[in-house]
Amino acid sequence: MNLLIMGLPGAGKGTQAAKIVEEFGVIHISTGDMFRAAMANQTEMGKLAKSYIDKGDLVPDEVTNGIVKERLSQDDIKAKGFLLDGYPRTIDQAHALDATLEALGLKLDGVINIVVDPASLVERLSGRIINKKTGETFHKVFNPPAGDYDENDYYQREDDKPETVKRRLDVNIAQGQPIIDHYREAGIVIDINGNQEIETVFSDIEKVIEKLK
Ligand code: AP5
Ligand code: MG
Repeated sequence: MNLLIMGLPGAGKGTQAAKIVEEFGVIHISTGDMFRAAMANQTEMGKLAKSYIDKGDLVPDEVTNGIVKERLSQDDIKAKGFLLDGYPRTIDQAHALDATLEALGLKLDGVINIVVDPASLVERLSGRIINKKTGETFHKVFNPPAGDYDENDYYQREDDKPETVKRRLDVNIAQGQPIIDHYREAGIVIDINGNQEIETVFSDIEKVIEKLK
């Protein structure tokens, strides 16, 4: 099964993607995670990506299209299926993805669109904490780690500062609508109410994926 998960920054794409991957065994392809790994390793691509990400802007399409195409071309994709998270994020990326999938003989089964009230997103992003060892995402209030946890075991993302979040939201709101329209024309968009508890959102997504299987 080949899926996309879409939604504004903080909508819960990564949180739900982790659960989908665990239950359905598809391969998670997050362009944000790939860029952050390249930034941590200080590769040329990572340095380039950082100059955009730190400002809340999008990394240029040709770079992003290239890394996604490379990942989708690997052997495990056909066997397990994929879940793209954070890509496509411009209409040109959506067209590039169409071409890549066609060239690889793959097709999209569904687009899970997590719809949230934008007013709640600054709070979600400013409270997000990520485990340094496991990479697992939590929230200080909405989804705290179990028990008495040590804050030093967690970090906050550089681009979760309020001023950068505002820019990320503006950019993503402006770019997102044509992409959704593109997939609505293909009749494969499923809207999910993201203004619910994490487990409720997941149970809605589970039902949708069961139907797609
Ligand atoms: P990326 O990493 O994709 O960031 P994003 O789209 O801004 O989304 P986030 O990862 O911030 O949010 P999320 O929806 O995954 O939410 P999460 O589950 O963590 O991209 C980062 C940057 O990389 C971009 O700005 C861009 O520069 C670059 N980039 C990436 N892809 C690109 C592309 N295709 N083209 C060009 N540039 C690209 O949840 C957020 C918080 O809320 C967490 O604390 C979580 O615990 C909490 N939470 C989750 N669900 C709920 C809920 N239902 N109720 C309450 N709290 C919740
Ligand atoms: Mg994410």
